[in-house]
Amino acid sequence: MIGAPINRVDGPQKVTGTAEYAYEDWSVGQPLYGAIVGASIGHGRITAISATRAEQAPGVRRVITHRDNLYRPPVPPPQFDRYRSPYPVMTSAEVPFFGAPVALVVASTLEQARFAAGLVQVEYERIDGRYDLDAHASDARLAKRVNAELPAETKVGDLAGAFASAPVKIDQVYATPYEFSLPLEMHSCIASWDGRVLTVHTGTQIVDSARLRIAATLGMDPSQVRVISRFIGGGFGSKLGVHAETILAAIAARELGQPVKVSLTRQQVFQLVGNRPAERQHVRLGANRDGTLVAFGHDAVMKASVGDDYIEQSAHSGRALYAAPNRLTRHLGVDLNLMFSEDVRAPGEAPGLIPIECGMDELAHELGIDPIELRIKNEPKVHPETNVPYSDRHLVECYRIGAERFGWARRQQTPRSLREGKWLVGYGMAAAIRGHFQGPTTVAVRLERDGSAVVLSDMTDIGTGTYTILAQVAAQALGYPLHRVRVELGDSEFPTSPGSGGSWGACNSTTAAYRACLALRDKLVAAATKDPTSPLHGLDPKEGVEVADGFIAIGSASETITDIVARSFPSGLQAEGTVKNMMEDPNYAAYSLSSYGAHFAEVHVDATTAEIRVRRMLSVFDCGRVLNAKTARSQLIGGMIWGISAALHEDGALDVRYGSFVNRDFAQYLVPVHADIPEIDAIMLDSFDPKANELGAKGLGEVGICGAGAAIGNAVFNATGVRVRDFPITVEKLLPHLPH
Ligand code: MOS
Repeated sequence: MIGAPINRVDGPQKVTGTAEYAYEDWSVGQPLYGAIVGASIGHGRITAISATRAEQAPGVRRVITHRDNLYRPPVPPPQFDRYRSPYPVMTSAEVPFFGAPVALVVASTLEQARFAAGLVQVEYERIDGRYDLDAHASDARLAKRVNAELPAETKVGDLAGAFASAPVKIDQVYATPYEFSLPLEMHSCIASWDGRVLTVHTGTQIVDSARLRIAATLGMDPSQVRVISRFIGGGFGSKLGVHAETILAAIAARELGQPVKVSLTRQQVFQLVGNRPAERQHVRLGANRDGTLVAFGHDAVMKASVGDDYIEQSAHSGRALYAAPNRLTRHLGVDLNLMFSEDVRAPGEAPGLIPIECGMDELAHELGIDPIELRIKNEPKVHPETNVPYSDRHLVECYRIGAERFGWARRQQTPRSLREGKWLVGYGMAAAIRGHFQGPTTVAVRLERDGSAVVLSDMTDIGTGTYTILAQVAAQALGYPLHRVRVELGDSEFPTSPGSGGSWGACNSTTAAYRACLALRDKLVAAATKDPTSPLHGLDPKEGVEVADGFIAIGSASETITDIVARSFPSGLQAEGTVKNMMEDPNYAAYSLSSYGAHFAEVHVDATTAEIRVRRMLSVFDCGRVLNAKTARSQLIGGMIWGISAALHEDGALDVRYGSFVNRDFAQYLVPVHADIPEIDAIMLDSFDPKANELGAKGLGEVGICGAGAAIGNAVFNATGVRVRDFPITVEKLLPHLPH
C-alpha cells in the first residue's frame, strides 16, 4: 500500500467540481465582495485620500482606508515568526512598496467593488526610493538572520589563502532574477463573523499559522478564529502565510457583520505576495589539477526589504554538497524599498545551486574532466563543515544511474562538437540537494462505530497528494483497504501541524498518522486480550501483533477490528500520534539529513537564431522511501519543469525608476507551456532513511527544482561553448556570443 502509485483519493471531487476552494465556499450565506486599491508610488506617504466618489457608486457598502483606524497596529512580538506574527495592513499613511494596499472597497458584487475601486482618489508625497539591486550592491550587509534559522555565515580553514594558491580557479558571479510563486488559485479569502467567532476560509499552507496571524493582527484571542483550508490550488511558499486579502476580508467582515470575500487579482499577486529576491552570487572554486577541491567560496548577495529581515538560504546550498578543506559561505542583503521577499519553492537551493552547479561545470571544463567524475571526486564522507555523518546518501548512485539511463556517454567534453542539422546539441548535468526538515505535528486517527477510520489533522493538501498518502499510510498501518480510511484536513479544529512547506509536510503528517495507528492497535489489543469473549483473550501482544484484511492477529488467533470496536468501544476510539520539532530530535544533531538528486538535460540550440529547445530531461532522486510513486513523480517533475523555467523563462522585470514590477501576468512573465517541455522523467531510488523517521521517507517537494536550472545552463554551454551567467538564459543574451 505505501509507495503504490494510487490515484489521488480526492481526484473525483476535483474533476467534478465538488472540491470547494476558499473563494467559492458558499455555506456562509450571501457575501459581500472586497477589492483592494494599491498604491501607485513605490515609496512615500499618502497626503490625501477621498472615498466620496467610490462610496456613491452602485452597490458600495463601505470603503475602508488607514484613516478608519479599525484596528490598532500590534506591538511587534519579541520573537518574530514569519507566518504567525501580526501582518498589519493599511495602518498608516506610509507607503512601503509599490502596490501596497491603500483602500478596500466593499460592495454587493465583485464588479461593483472593482468599478468603485477605480474611483478612490489618493494623493501622495513621493520620496526617492532605493529600488535597484545593482546600483546599491555596494551597501550589501551581512544578513542578521537567514531563513530556517540557518547560519548567515560559515567558515572552515582559510578560503582566501587556499583560493589564491589553487592551481585551477573558478571566480564568477551569477545573476538570478526576481521570481514569483504563481499558484493557479490566487490568494483569496472569505471571512465571516458571528459576533463570537471569525470563520476564515482561505487558501493557506499552514492553517495554524494563519489562525495565529489573523488573531494577532486583529487583536483577538486565537480561540475566536477558525481557519478552514480544505482544498488549495497550489502554494509554492506563497501561501505559507496569509497576506492582505485575508487580513482585509477579516477586518471588513467583523466591521460589517456580513461575510466578505476578497481575492487578489493576478496582477496583485505580483505586488502583494512576497517574491524570490534577485541575487548576485559570487562563487569561488579552487582545485588541484586532479580536480580535488581545496577552496569553496559562496557569497549570496540579494535584495532585502527595508523593515524586513528575510534572506533566503542560497549560500547554504553547497555546505553539505562537496568536500573542500577551506570554505566560506555568506549571505548578504541589500535593503531596498520593495515588497519583501518570501519563500518561493526551494528557497535558497533553487537559486543557490545555479552558481555552484554551473561553477562545477566550469571547473570540469577548465580541468578537462567529466563533470560527473569531478563531482564524485569531491563527494564528502562526512558533512564537510559540521563533520557529522550523513544519515543516508546515495548521490553517487544518482549520478551513475542517471548517466547510464540518459546516455551520458554520447556527451562530448569539448563544447559545440555535436550537431544535428541546424541544431547545436548539448548535454548538461547538475547535482540536487535539499535539507530534510521536521516540525511539531499531531495527527488523530479515529475508529468509528463501524470500524472505519478517519484521519484528522489541520495539515493541508496544496495539490501535492496529502489526502492520498495519509490514506495509504493509515490503511497499511491498520490492515485496511483504502476505502475504509477517510482523511479530513485543513481545519483549525483538528490537531495542529506545521502544514505543507519546506518539503516537510508528507513526512511529518504520515509519521504522526502512522504513530496514531500504532497507538490505536495497542488500545485494541489491550481491550481484546482482557475480554473473555475475544479470540485474542489472554494472549500476550509481545508475541507480535499483525494486521491484515481488517483483522488484528496475535499468533494464529485473530479478530476483526470492527468487532473489537463494536464490543469494547461502542462510541468509537481515537488515538493521536505526534512528531517532535527537529530541534528536539537527536537525529538532527547527530546526522546531516537531506534529499539528493542528479539532473540530466539535452538541449538543442539553433546555430543561427540561438533559439533554445530542451529536448530531454531525466533526473534521478534519492529521497528515502517513496510514499506514493505517482504523486511523488508528479512533484519531482513539477520541480524539474520549474528548473527549466528558471533557466530559460522566468524574469520579474523591475522598473527601477518607480520600484514597480512591470510584467505582472502570464502573458509577460513567462513560464513554460507544454511545447517547452520535452520528454521528461524522474526516477526514484528505492531507498529508506532510517534516521528520518520509521517510514524511512524524506521530503521531495522541492528537491526536483534544486539544481535543475543549472543542468539546463550547462547543456546550453556544452551545445554552444557560450556561458551565460545572467539567468534566465534568453536568446538576446546568447545570440551575440554565437560564432557565425
Ligand atoms: Mo515551500 S517555498 O516552504 O512551500
